[in-house]
Amino acid sequence: MEKSIRSIVHSLPSKQAGMVKSDRAIRLDKGEFPYPPAPQVISAIQAAASGINRYPEVLTNTLRQALADYNQVELDQIFVGNGSDDLIELVLKICIEPGDQVILPVPTFFVYGAASQMLGGVTVAVPRQADFGLDVAAILAAITPRTKLIFIANPNNPTANLVDRMALIELLDQTDCLIVVDECYFEICQTTIAAEIEKYPNLIVLRSLSKGFGLAGLRLGYGITNSQMTDYLYRIAQIFPVNQLAIAAGMAALANLDYMETKLAEIKKERQQLAEALQALGLKVYRSDTNFLLVSCKSWHITSASLVAQLAQQEIFVADFGGKPGLDNYHLRIATGTPAENEVFLATLQTLKP
Ligand SMILES: Cc1ncc(COP(=O)(O)O)c(C=O)c1O
Repeated sequence: MEKSIRSIVHSLPSKQAGMVKSDRAIRLDKGEFPYPPAPQVISAIQAAASGINRYPEVLTNTLRQALADYNQVELDQIFVGNGSDDLIELVLKICIEPGDQVILPVPTFFVYGAASQMLGGVTVAVPRQADFGLDVAAILAAITPRTKLIFIANPNNPTANLVDRMALIELLDQTDCLIVVDECYFEICQTTIAAEIEKYPNLIVLRSLSKGFGLAGLRLGYGITNSQMTDYLYRIAQIFPVNQLAIAAGMAALANLDYMETKLAEIKKERQQLAEALQALGLKVYRSDTNFLLVSCKSWHITSASLVAQLAQQEIFVADFGGKPGLDNYHLRIATGTPAENEVFLATLQTLKP
């Protein structure tokens, strides 16, 4: 069997099963929306369930039209997929031949690197500036004839910041490499570059219904780009890129924007209170345009790995980013939970303060 396995597969690490968490667990480690989705979304999934003996609509045009209306673009400027993770891979599939290069301003979302390597791409890490802004000159200097793609998460994960719009425009002006601007947190920050898709044919904007609409478990993402690019992407995509329940849920979520807006206002208020409470405990909290906070525990003279492990013992889960590319050993990422979750988290954290 080994002779049939691509050599790149041997060089990739095995995936580890996720830890099973109890119902009591406070889960602030995955940057999730802490509330259930809108009641209308749950009803729509229930109503669609009896029809799942049928395949979904080819190309999913009904959902694409709803997303086009939501974004005030045309249907053929929208493509959909099984979460933005799936779309990150799809974009790579249309442009990466083995050995081609992908530029990643680091620190950034790990899936870009993992997916690039899986497809035979070579990642080129370009450090961000001290405030985690883009170093446009360094990115431009890193471009070679083999550079096919640049991934820019905006806002970025795990650093939570938006990059300067003029830096993005400068990059778009200076290169014809594909530029993916990943706007997974758009509903939270309301900042987008999508209006530029016709001006820059190399621009692909990615979006997700995981964060703002609370559909992470369903896996639904989409992208906005020009119609030629959409056509290329769909040539490579599976014929049924998203499932029937995700289509029903996505349509219902888009028809009930009030729910999302109300919940996001609560999340942003909680994020502010959480940030202030963490600062009051002496921790460094970075500015956030997402639903999570990047925090440094250096002032506590304790590594993030140790702090995260101590919290996990009490069934409180936050994400350790200590030692990840571009970060020192003291960084952790904490999602905004419900008020009750944040209260328990803060009370527990207080007990761990050295
Ligand atoms: C920047 C960024 N892009 C994409 C994703 C993945 O989103 P999805 O759930 O749509 O696959 C995440 C998830 O945390 C993210 O932070």
